[in-house]
Amino acid sequence: MLEVVDLHAGYGDAPVLFGVGFGVARGEVVTLLGRNGMGKTTTVRAVMGLIRPRGGAVRFAGDRIDGMPPHRIARRGIGLVPEGRQVFPNLTTRENLIATAARAGGAWSLDRVLSLFPRLAERLDSMAALLSGGEQQMLAIGRALMTDPCLLILDEATEGLAPLIREDIWRALAQLKQAGLGILLIDKNLNALMRIADRHVVLEKGRAVWTGDSAALRADQALARRYLGV
Ligand SMILES: Nc1ncnc2c1ncn2[C@@H]1O[C@H](COP(=O)(O)OP(=O)(O)O)[C@@H](O)[C@H]1O
Ligand SMILES: [Mg+2]
Repeated sequence: MLEVVDLHAGYGDAPVLFGVGFGVARGEVVTLLGRNGMGKTTTVRAVMGLIRPRGGAVRFAGDRIDGMPPHRIARRGIGLVPEGRQVFPNLTTRENLIATAARAGGAWSLDRVLSLFPRLAERLDSMAALLSGGEQQMLAIGRALMTDPCLLILDEATEGLAPLIREDIWRALAQLKQAGLGILLIDKNLNALMRIADRHVVLEKGRAVWTGDSAALRADQALARRYLGV
């Protein structure tokens, strides 16, 4: 479904990605792993069109999407939960969710988001700025779902959240996987990632240096030490 081929991107004169390649099949959960500063967020930004790729190709459902503006990429069915969540602080929970709704009759409705995240039902009329970090992350995921994506990208899915709330997020992501959504996932909690993911891609200094499933990752402790620092 998503195909990233020899992707080059960076900021200003500084190259950051030097040929990243990986894919996410329909309904597959794939992680992007790698220590801080290795290019995970930059990869996500280049895929979403938030920075312009300098080389290589990004294909989604068979079509080239590199070079397209972000709103067109989103409309094709990629939902982003960005690093730092970035909900609209001065809109209520309800307004945040409705603001990104794709169209009436889509797969995702306000009610379906609330059944995935019951906590949000109690916070519908609260300003997003007043929600806890966990609730804001649920809202950010809900907002991305309201665009009716076939691929959801989460950059630092549980960063800064309390352990119990993290479990709520992992549970919700497992439900989304069950429902057939493709997910590209970035997080620091390797154990949780290994439980949910079909495959992992390790980034090192702007290159994809390894890919394999959870069993292969678990078996290769030298790899985890070298590229992930664990
Ligand atoms: N907005 C930016 N402007 C300039 N350099 C950036 C910017 N964002 C990230 N970088 C640099 O790009 C590299 C990769 O960063 P990033 O993709 O955020 O890594 P990761 O998400 O894996 O931690 C780092 O060296 C970082 O300093
Ligand atoms: Mg990052």
